[in-house]
Amino acid sequence: MHLAHLRLRDFRNYARLDVDFSPGFHLLLGDNAQGKTNILEAIYLMATLRSFRGVGSAQMIRHGAKGYFVGGKIIGQGEREIKMFWSSRERNLTLDAQPVKKLADYFGALRTVVFCTEDLQLIKGTARARRRFLDLLLAQTQPGYLPLLQRYMHSVRARNALLKQRSADDAALESFSLELVKLGNELIRARRELVPKFSPLARLAYRRISNDAEELRIEYSPSVKNDFAIELLNSRVREKTFRATLVGPHRDDVQLLLNEKSAAQFGSEGQKRTLAIALKMAQAEFLAGINGSAPILLIDDVMGELDVKRRSGLLPLLENARKTSGQVFMTCTEENWPRELGKDLQRWEVKTGTLHKQ
Ligand SMILES: Nc1ncnc2c1ncn2[C@@H]1O[C@H](COP(=O)(O)OP(=O)(O)OP(=O)(O)O)[C@@H](O)[C@H]1O
Ligand SMILES: [Mg+2]
Repeated sequence: MHLAHLRLRDFRNYARLDVDFSPGFHLLLGDNAQGKTNILEAIYLMATLRSFRGVGSAQMIRHGAKGYFVGGKIIGQGEREIKMFWSSRERNLTLDAQPVKKLADYFGALRTVVFCTEDLQLIKGTARARRRFLDLLLAQTQPGYLPLLQRYMHSVRARNALLKQRSADDAALESFSLELVKLGNELIRARRELVPKFSPLARLAYRRISNDAEELRIEYSPSVKNDFAIELLNSRVREKTFRATLVGPHRDDVQLLLNEKSAAQFGSEGQKRTLAIALKMAQAEFLAGINGSAPILLIDDVMGELDVKRRSGLLPLLENARKTSGQVFMTCTEENWPRELGKDLQRWEVKTGTLHKQ
């Protein structure tokens, strides 16, 4: 799969951009604050309808403009065309000139994996970041997962709303619990099955990047230990104190262990960064394995974060991704682009919201 054309109008610091990309390795070079990350953000936005910077759409509209347009032509098994327009008044998303009605039909038209500094939250951040990572992997590979997750979260919110009422009626709570347990058990099963499939890929990626410096182990750490229904019942008294649902997959976590020690608590900065990159590398491989074609890799500023040894461990992985996948976009400031990457990369100069082939 590769992005063959990108069109931006009033997106971040790009007033107008029309650019053709071939498959292969693209290096976006430029000084700080020129618009390198903005390009990756636009591509990721088409793939996921979100910014990887965790901001809302209003912030992506170019200052002074009314709305942004992001469009792309994607070549995979066939050719697909995405067009999205967003303003405070109007939102419009089409795939192959048809309005998108069901998001499940849309996701998959363009698949990307992003590597960015925010990935460190996977290690340093709260359990929520790790749950989102699992959920994204499952949503990208199992068609029914996203609707299931949405129904479960809806049921958590409804149950919490009931618990917040002064006189929470036990019978009503009971019926909410039934739904919660049914959906929750499905989520738990999907996550439990995913981790052992994903974990060897991450372990291997970590080994390669770190040159076997330490061993990674990933362990699913569910909130429900045995029986959801029983544990929910046992938490009833505490639930009434806290007025919230205290057990269930919305409280799951994933343990990331380096040589059997928590990476968050004991890892060095470099180890945490290596781990974040390894998780993303593994995500890309996992998606490629299931979908039969590799996702587009969007790599923002990660090279500068690694020491020379770890860099040289990462480069072959990138090279491999380029060979098998088709397309990699990587941002760099002029000084730190890895010359080791070889000749057949395509260099682009990014300067104040313009892109020029070098
Ligand atoms: N909504 C917006 N409208 C106009 N300009 C914006 C908007 N949002 C961000 N910018 C501008 O975009 C530029 C930042 O772009 P970007 O984050 O892509 O930089 P970069 O090239 O990745 O820089 P760095 O090397 O520092 O990461 C800044 O000049 C910023 O002011
Ligand atoms: Mg940037």
